[in-house]
Amino acid sequence: MQNFVYSVPTKIIFGKDQVDVLADQIKEYGRKVLLAYGGGSIKRNGIYDRVTEILKENNIEFYELAGIEPNPDIESVREGVRICRENNIDFILAVGGGSTIDCSKVIAAGYYYDGDPWDLVSRKSPITKTLPLGVILTMSATGSEMNSGAVISNRETKQKLHIMHPNLLPKFSILDPSYTFTLPKEQTAAGIADIMSHTFESYFTLNDGAYLQDRFAESILKTCIRYGKIAYDEADNYEAKANIMWAAPNAINGLLMCGKNAIWSVHGIAQELTAYYGLTHGVALAILTPVWMEYVLDDERVDKFVEYGVNVWGIDSNKDKYQIAKEAIEKTREFFTSIGLPKSLSEVGIGEENLEKMAQDAIDDKGGVIGNFKPLYYDDVLEILRKAL
Ligand code: NZQ
Ligand code: ZN
Repeated sequence: MQNFVYSVPTKIIFGKDQVDVLADQIKEYGRKVLLAYGGGSIKRNGIYDRVTEILKENNIEFYELAGIEPNPDIESVREGVRICRENNIDFILAVGGGSTIDCSKVIAAGYYYDGDPWDLVSRKSPITKTLPLGVILTMSATGSEMNSGAVISNRETKQKLHIMHPNLLPKFSILDPSYTFTLPKEQTAAGIADIMSHTFESYFTLNDGAYLQDRFAESILKTCIRYGKIAYDEADNYEAKANIMWAAPNAINGLLMCGKNAIWSVHGIAQELTAYYGLTHGVALAILTPVWMEYVLDDERVDKFVEYGVNVWGIDSNKDKYQIAKEAIEKTREFFTSIGLPKSLSEVGIGEENLEKMAQDAIDDKGGVIGNFKPLYYDDVLEILRKAL
């Protein structure tokens, strides 16, 4: 196991009606709030009414940034920075899923940066100081509620980039599983695929001796498998939604990566499908993951797939190694289809037209090579995209 430092100071406030503590949490940091949210789901399900009622009752002044789009665009960040500056905001409250949280994180950093916030996303300039940020989560998927990352799109340049900085960690995140009851089925499924993919990205490494982390990872995968279909079929099943909601941040808050040298693979390819076609992040991951697994399976890596098949899927360890590996991959694919996710790019209307460009952009973003479980170069990425058609 490699040396590591693990520090995630985000306070998690988990459970039903925990929003009641919101005002006290905000008052630790500020009095003038930017309330940031997406396209209106929080208005339809009553969360907006409850949050604004709390803010008003506690004399917390607030201004709104509404309409943050899925795969948030840099334009929304610019708009948020403008509102914050005009009104001397001292705290940002993000109410929504990963898109709202990520946009809010970059607004928090953009507030103290004199130039265009895209410079921060494209790493032209470093992130320094940030406004404090709190989260009320309405969808389980990205883990942005408890990590230091943000993903922002630039539709003009067809780019979707990821940045990380410790100052982007939320001060607190309120996780009420009942807030996810109104989530459409397809989003529940996409979220589960995303959580599983984050786990796979940390889990599939070679011989690093991080035994404990891999058992943590398997527990998260088993939780997604046990509760994923229930959460998909029964939108208001609290137990299922609660377990999925707690799995999400734990899959990507750094715990699974401790002591491991895990450089992610599938996310780097999936982001191009969103940049080019607007494909939902989790849907792209569900299509690509089994294809990637089949592509990288070879003598050097088969033992890791055996570990996965035996420990996560309960496949008989006496079977032939490759048989176990292939069964495990097939079970992964079947699980995704059982929660309504597509198996191929053609099912979502994507053809051969941009494969070369996407493969090139994917490796360019990562300095020429993606991942390290099996390093992927241009030809590999192109082949994976072709096999996913
Ligand atoms: O915009 P509204 O109206 O709120 O509707 C949203 C949106 O249409 C809806 N929704 C959310 N909660 C709901 C709800 N509808 C009804 N009831 C609720 N309770 O769901 C739709 C999707 O929301 P979004 O926030 O876009 O989804 P998600 O949480 O999957 O976030 C996706 C974004 O996060 C990035 C992705 O690339 C993508 O841009 N990621 C962020 C990461 C991070 N910060 O660490 C890592 C991830 O790998 C990922 O890349
Ligand atoms: Zn993801």
